[in-house]
Amino acid sequence: MNVNGTPYRSIWLNGDGVSVDIIDQTRLPHEFEVVRMTSLEDAAHAIEIMQVRGAPLIGATAAYGVCLALQKNCSDETLNAAFARLARTRPTAVNLIWALDVMEKTLRDKPEKDRFAAAYDLAALICDEDVETNSAIGDYGHALIEMLAIEKGGEPVNILTHCNAGWLATVDWGTALSPIYKAHGADLPVHVWADETRPRNQGASLTAWELGQHGVPHTIITDNAGGHLMQHGKVDMVITGTDRTARNGDVANKIGTYLKALAAKDNGVPFYVALPFSTIDWNARDGVRDIPIEERDQSEVTHISGRAADGSITNVQLSAPGSAAANPAFDVTPARLVTGLITERGVSAASEARLMALYPDRADSSP
Ligand code: MRU
Repeated sequence: MNVNGTPYRSIWLNGDGVSVDIIDQTRLPHEFEVVRMTSLEDAAHAIEIMQVRGAPLIGATAAYGVCLALQKNCSDETLNAAFARLARTRPTAVNLIWALDVMEKTLRDKPEKDRFAAAYDLAALICDEDVETNSAIGDYGHALIEMLAIEKGGEPVNILTHCNAGWLATVDWGTALSPIYKAHGADLPVHVWADETRPRNQGASLTAWELGQHGVPHTIITDNAGGHLMQHGKVDMVITGTDRTARNGDVANKIGTYLKALAAKDNGVPFYVALPFSTIDWNARDGVRDIPIEERDQSEVTHISGRAADGSITNVQLSAPGSAAANPAFDVTPARLVTGLITERGVSAASEARLMALYPDRADSSP
């Protein structure tokens, strides 16, 4: 997708063929800064401090983290240490473990001398596959938006989204935003309500920025505004991403998603979740019970960053010193509240039977 008219992916191999470049998402929307990762630790750190974030991009970064770990030697010990370090960076997005599993399955059986080149080939493949997958998600989601556009007789379709499940959260296209980019590209009138997404404000700082870069009409709203807008007929559909979808169709996504789904149900607004196959955890039978929820630092709730009048990026305190804060970073929306899952294989009901019918080749791990 584009930044000031120039096409970018969110992660790419540097010209030296070893180091890997990412966009520092902690600086957006105020500064567009590219960071070079040259070691395993750089990759793990980038995931932990959320220079890269979003489930598919976390997976892609982890894959390149394994590559960077193999620079000095490609022994089993090096591989084990890399997998262990990367696996403990963030707990909820299953794409991380998925990407590490893919790397492990291929590299473990290779002679040490072939592992370095094979790792880079595989990381590049994971990235390319992510782009293709998200483009297909966009095509299926576009068809849903088109139906609403016809019903609305050419009036803009108002789509509410939460957090950032755009191209910045993936290698390209995004999941929830991919249908919106496809619809906009096909001249369908769309307008996006972007939840600001406290506490880290990925909606206000990332979703709004990337939609703006593509000329997609959008409005930032507080996280609490969605229910009110739905009651007044101002939301035609909700599309969010997910960090881990359980076998039964329950979806974990950024904290606050569940409340949007409840409000959507109460107001008869369709609630869709867009995801690639790599976000399904076939081992999680029940999302509420089985999906680990990341608990992040209190300071993300008690403090906030923004650009000061002098142009500097500043962090300020919101709450009285001494007040404790809790910061669960994700919640789980039960399948019964999900109208449909938009995948690269089509739109499916959120249920174990429908997911297994869609992925008979993937649903091979026993819960
Ligand atoms: O904490 P984040 O910013 O990594 O959370 C991201 C989300 O919740 C996204 O909606 C999700 O990863 C889907 S990304 C296509």
